[in-house]
Amino acid sequence: MCGIVGIAGTRDVAPIILEALRRLEYRGYDSAGIATLEHGEIARRRSPGKLNMLAAVLHDRPLHGHTGIGHTRWATHGAPTEANAHPHATAKVAIVHNGIIENFRELRAELTAKGHQFQSETDSETAAHLVTDLMAQGLAPDEAAKQAVARLTGAYSIAMIFKDHEGLLVGARRGAPLAVGYADDEAFIGSDAFALAPFTNRVSYLEEGDVVVIRGAQVSIFDAQGRPANREVKITSASAALVDKAGHSHFMAKEIHEQPEVVGHTLAHYLDPAGPVVRHLGVGLREALVAASRITISACGTAYYAGMVGKYWFEKLARIAVETDVASELRYRNPVYPDTGVALFVSQSGETADTLAALRDAKAKGQTTIAVVNVAESSIAREADIVLPTYAGPEIGVASTKAFTCQLAALASFAIAAGVARGNLSTEDEKKLCASLLETPRHIAEFLKQEAKLKTLGEEIAKARDVLYMGRGASYPLALEGALKLKEISYIHAEGYAAGEMKHGPIALIDEAVPIIVIAPHDVHFEKTISNMQEVMARGGKVLLISDAAGIAKAGKVWASIEVPTTNAFITPILYAIPVQLLAYYAAIAKGTDVDQPRNLAKSVTVE
Ligand code: M6R
Repeated sequence: MCGIVGIAGTRDVAPIILEALRRLEYRGYDSAGIATLEHGEIARRRSPGKLNMLAAVLHDRPLHGHTGIGHTRWATHGAPTEANAHPHATAKVAIVHNGIIENFRELRAELTAKGHQFQSETDSETAAHLVTDLMAQGLAPDEAAKQAVARLTGAYSIAMIFKDHEGLLVGARRGAPLAVGYADDEAFIGSDAFALAPFTNRVSYLEEGDVVVIRGAQVSIFDAQGRPANREVKITSASAALVDKAGHSHFMAKEIHEQPEVVGHTLAHYLDPAGPVVRHLGVGLREALVAASRITISACGTAYYAGMVGKYWFEKLARIAVETDVASELRYRNPVYPDTGVALFVSQSGETADTLAALRDAKAKGQTTIAVVNVAESSIAREADIVLPTYAGPEIGVASTKAFTCQLAALASFAIAAGVARGNLSTEDEKKLCASLLETPRHIAEFLKQEAKLKTLGEEIAKARDVLYMGRGASYPLALEGALKLKEISYIHAEGYAAGEMKHGPIALIDEAVPIIVIAPHDVHFEKTISNMQEVMARGGKVLLISDAAGIAKAGKVWASIEVPTTNAFITPILYAIPVQLLAYYAAIAKGTDVDQPRNLAKSVTVE
């Protein structure tokens, strides 16, 4: 998603805006730009492509000035060209914008009729002309900005600088996050605290409808009604070392390797190893679980697949009815919620627009809302009734890896807690399950030693045009996750199926050229999955079996196999995520794609 940076500084800001934009690269973008005030005049440089292209432009034609804004754009309205890149500017104002201005067509028609000439196809440029128009009517820049923002509909955040107004920076939050950074003689605006980390760790987050007016280092925030507002200044943990790949070639590789540690951190929050037992649930959570007649789980992408695994766990351990749906569907289908329902939302970023909207709808319909979320300061974390944090740390690679396994760790712990709270699990059951969960980090670390083999197999997979994944039970969502991971970073077409569904259609695709990745831990589903695998092999299918020692021995001859440590079946979804991540990673490396920032994708999807 687009990234925003703004600085009211005491030095040339273009180089440090560029540095801050680099820290927002992980969000995904396809063009970038910076504008500053040079002797009071708006000057800007923009470029399609990655930030090194903008850096080259700046090298040839440097930008000076102490007040500036910068942007990485993930195209929504108009192709990623220089003309469509932000900042958008008139002679009076330059703006950067993240999100969508839904009423831009009407506003553009109105402003065009008044003589404004538009240079881009974007919705964003409308904001620059609207502010200019209001300033032409005699309004001061900050007042014009406030009135303009009040006329824009949609979900967005925005930042602006103004001709002849050194040190003046205005920002607004309407549905997309914006952080304000404080220093002794400078102030900053950024899409998130990571962008601001090299400059300050003192950050406040704007609330919905807020406008911030920065004059030099003086920061004034106004709420949706225009009243002065105080927003708590927090000391953020967003590390200045964030951009460090710790010796790995890609953030994705680093994040895959961090999993033993971060899954361990997440489990430590939920489980007391002394028992081992689940720690005491927060006030209200136990009561909500006991009273719940149904849990509705919703999310997008990989987070949704984590939620699907959660469904298997909640049904089995807590004997509670569970419904799952992707957030983009749930939010619009006016779902029928039970009177005493719990609605659980899963999100790494905590800013995914569809997930946030589905949460708001569930809340409005009387559900107790719970968020499994990685970014503690995010919108979803702030709006949910109860937050179940994950401790994956910042995830930079667009392909979600460690956030997924941490979501699973949190959901597994929560499912045990639900089972205990609802009287469905004995103390012995609780101990066994917790003990298995606590072994997960060790098993992940053990499995990662096989990386060289995964590299070879990933290179084989890279030769395929299509790849199928199949599994049963909680391995079915993993099949979906494996296929998503492969297609998003290697661009190889891949699909995941419930193994039992193969003969209802997909088996027609099987020939020698299509690898089939069978996820089959030696659990209650094993025999059935292996029967489905045989059906595929009988039709020439080339099977890569992921199982444990007993499963591989029982399955017989296959094209290739990956052996995962033998564990309690309960934790296999967490463990089996690692081979599917590594296969996708090495297939993508073999294909030479941009692993951390795959084409067309954004890390944080704040538009619907
Ligand atoms: O930040 P979220 O977890 O809410 O994001 C949800 C999806 O956009 C995300 O999981 C996406 O599918 C990833 N690119 C998958 O690797």
